[in-house]
Amino acid sequence: MSKKYFAEPFKIKMVEPIAVLTDEERLERIETANYNLFSLNSDDVYIDLLTDSGTGAMSAEQWAGIMRGDEAYSGARGYRNLVKSAQDIFGYEYIQPVHQGRAAEKVVMPILLGPGKFAISNMHFDTTRAHVEIAGARALDCVVEEALDTTTHYPFKGNMDLEKMESLIKEHGAENIGVIIITVTNNSAGGQPVSMENIRETSKIAKKYGITVLIDAARYAENSYFIKEREDGYQDKSIKEIAKEMFSYAEIFTMSSKKDAIVNMGGLIGVKDDSDLFENVKANTIPYEGFISYGGLAGRDLEALAIGLQEGIDYNFLKYRIGQMEYLAERLAEGGVPFQTPAGGHAIFVDAKKLLPHLKYYEFPGHALAVELYKEAGIRSCDIGSYMIGNDPDTGEQLDAGFEFTRLAIPRRVYTQSHLDVVADALIAIKDRADQVPGYKIVWEPKILRHFTAKLEPIK
Ligand code: F0G
Repeated sequence: MSKKYFAEPFKIKMVEPIAVLTDEERLERIETANYNLFSLNSDDVYIDLLTDSGTGAMSAEQWAGIMRGDEAYSGARGYRNLVKSAQDIFGYEYIQPVHQGRAAEKVVMPILLGPGKFAISNMHFDTTRAHVEIAGARALDCVVEEALDTTTHYPFKGNMDLEKMESLIKEHGAENIGVIIITVTNNSAGGQPVSMENIRETSKIAKKYGITVLIDAARYAENSYFIKEREDGYQDKSIKEIAKEMFSYAEIFTMSSKKDAIVNMGGLIGVKDDSDLFENVKANTIPYEGFISYGGLAGRDLEALAIGLQEGIDYNFLKYRIGQMEYLAERLAEGGVPFQTPAGGHAIFVDAKKLLPHLKYYEFPGHALAVELYKEAGIRSCDIGSYMIGNDPDTGEQLDAGFEFTRLAIPRRVYTQSHLDVVADALIAIKDRADQVPGYKIVWEPKILRHFTAKLEPIK
């Protein structure tokens, strides 16, 4: 077995100590947190894989940009640098900063959608779905069937099911489909990529029916890397060339820049051409996010984002990053731990349904494994399964998500191979005593987005 990934293409200049608690301390902390990982203090976490969003390490160049930041209300230097940097990658004429991804969704969705309308996506991220619904519309997911079988090695499990998409357009009427959203990579399916061919074909069908195509670009650089590695005809193209082609098939994008642009806070909206769309984006941005030249961000943040965008498409960085996922995946496969294969771009989705077959969906296998991982080694992860999906809004009944994942999201440029070994060793140790892992029951929950604040207890 190749016990290595492409080494970190950076060296460490500044370090942040992390706590190593005893077994007893961790048991006490998780009980006090009512077995909710969101309620833990981060000081009590050894390896934090809760999310890859806003948790990356900025470079020396980005920190230098922070110091150079121009805090002018209007026309700041950082804004101009950001627009230039983003235009260079995406090839879009209009670039609008906002404070994070969901802010971009809040600005854009009411422009494209309204009551009676539908958004179709390979898969909506939960905030995207929320903003579709807040705009009065309904969100329809349309991912290929291959995504649902975690054991098969399909190279583009994030793809849109084109036939299903076209039949949904016919069923609801093209005039009622406000937008087609392509999420790259497909986070909810396990950080799985979407092929260029699939993006091109999606765009062709959308054009035929006169429907706007939007890219949810949070992890576009990782998606571009997968296209380069896996799709015929792209091996000799640069990440930037691939990204430009991807975006040429859409009219607009929203982006959480907290992922592939490696900033702790930030987001973007891009509009391809001079159009009403951009005027509407501006009109919504000013009341929601602030003046167009800062969009909810400090001047210094604009500068860090301008630099981070370029660092995020560096081939060696992406090779190292995806290599980390592949390394962890290889160790887990070797140890017999089931997960969504192949490895995703930003995370490994451990298949808790398979690992803990004695737990029913209403005993929350994905959450049970996440708690166990904290108890075992101080690792924080999260449930992507029935615990997160919650209750049917009409009946109040617990929904069966169909999949039960524990997501190990890897922050960018933060952890080393040794940390990944701790994660693999802990999961393998849990696998060996999997039948003793208890399920959980909720003893208190709020009405919406309950997984952030619910209180739980192990089932005796
Ligand atoms: N779109 C996708 C695909 C995302 O993964 C996220 C966030 C957003 C939009 C919203 O962006 O957080 O900047 O407002 N995903 C994070 C995660 C939270 O942990 O996967 P945001």
